[in-house]
Amino acid sequence: MTRTPPKSFHIKSFGCQMNAYDGARMAELLETQGLAAADRAEAADLVVLNTCHIREKAAEKVYSDIGRLKRADGSRPMIAVAGCVAQAEGEEITRRAKSVDIVVGPQAYHNLPALVAEATRGGRALDTDMPVVSKFESLPRRRAQGPSAFLTVQEGCDKFCTYCVVPYTRGAEVSRPWRAVMDEARALADAGACEISLLGQNVNAWRGEDEAGRPQGLDGLIRAIDRIPGVRRIRYTTSHPNDMTDGLIAAHAEVAGLMPFLHLPVQAGSDRILKAMNRSHTTASYLRVIERVRAARPDIAISGDFIVGFPGETEADFAATLALVAEIGHAQAFSFKYSPRPGTPAATMADQVPAEVMHARLLRLQALIAAQAHAFNRASEGLVMPVLLERNGKKPGQRLGKSPYLQSVLVDSELPIGSLVDVAIVAGGPNSLQGIVHARAAA
Ligand code: SAH
Ligand code: SF4
Ligand code: F3S
Repeated sequence: MTRTPPKSFHIKSFGCQMNAYDGARMAELLETQGLAAADRAEAADLVVLNTCHIREKAAEKVYSDIGRLKRADGSRPMIAVAGCVAQAEGEEITRRAKSVDIVVGPQAYHNLPALVAEATRGGRALDTDMPVVSKFESLPRRRAQGPSAFLTVQEGCDKFCTYCVVPYTRGAEVSRPWRAVMDEARALADAGACEISLLGQNVNAWRGEDEAGRPQGLDGLIRAIDRIPGVRRIRYTTSHPNDMTDGLIAAHAEVAGLMPFLHLPVQAGSDRILKAMNRSHTTASYLRVIERVRAARPDIAISGDFIVGFPGETEADFAATLALVAEIGHAQAFSFKYSPRPGTPAATMADQVPAEVMHARLLRLQALIAAQAHAFNRASEGLVMPVLLERNGKKPGQRLGKSPYLQSVLVDSELPIGSLVDVAIVAGGPNSLQGIVHARAAA
């Protein structure tokens, strides 16, 4: 049965920033096809669920979300499942959820218009190919999306940590070419972005050649983007400890626009567990990296990811994680209960940790991290720092911005979104700072 072609769309992205980036690119693509963005799923003819497969809870969520898209009169929008669940469970989705019209993987979404056309003709469309010619070559030019923009420069992962689905859902490690990245960065700057966050599952594994054919790493790319007129701030995430090169560490000392913030997951504090995770670094080698980064940029804010309850984790192993966290001192960090993922080696390892033990450990770790984050924020009181105003606050006349250290900063100000201003920090709370605009920062 043919349907009316969709005139409006809504995209819901879950998971990491790379999914948020993909969501923005899909929106740009659908807009060039003449579809209008709707701000709610209820108001859209086409709903794209851009899913995450990293933990079981995230992956299962897609099925309840699909159910909720049914409207009061029994009808439903055209439904597309995109992202990592689509890649990992494409066939299963079409079997389990009959109302799904389109399944499209993270490397195939440039084909969305053709898939929508197929669904309009009454078919069910599935595309989870990982084509040799990259999707980026057939996506439209970037548009304005506020003062801070994401730019994916590297995709996929070859590291195969034993708990992780990313190498399967995103495929092998691929770096986008220098030229493509530079063109996109310039387009973003032209469209008004003054902060660019370079993204990749292992962003610091980016490798390429510049216009002169010289081999370059992520630091070379950062230095070149820093020279683009209009670009004031550069960030990058997520990094792997083994790919923190001397050049990248030096860039933290030398590139003014590179923000003093490093998200560098270590996952656990026990070398025995790190080995079972196939992390290919130790706690000592990780701490050496942190020490070198801090030597280059003493005020750098450190963030990380931790998994508690990996198979075989004993109380002593967990205590080593707490000790490592205490030694590093974080500005912020994310921590997760281990979630066994189908097809990964860890899922079938002996000594899976009971749920209640995992839960108790997570609470202890999160209490320590929260205390560190609060202390980091309190230490900002009395400082004057440049803040990029990114959006309106909840109250009228309020703006929400980001400090160089990625702290959220609330100020009473009528200055336009996108202003970079000096702010005097008057209070540091558990999750955010409060400040007073001090002066307009010099250009
Ligand atoms: N490429 C990045 C992070 C990828 S996924 C890195 O290597 O650090 C983001 C985070 O999710 C990981 O850092 C890890 O802490 C967490 N994670 C990944 N797989 C998980 C699993 N099976 N269970 C719980 N947390 C997991
Ligand atoms: Fe997953 Fe490990 Fe690759 Fe990170 S490095 S994406 S945790 S396999
Ligand atoms: Fe999730 Fe895929 Fe990102 S599994 S964390 S959306 S790479």
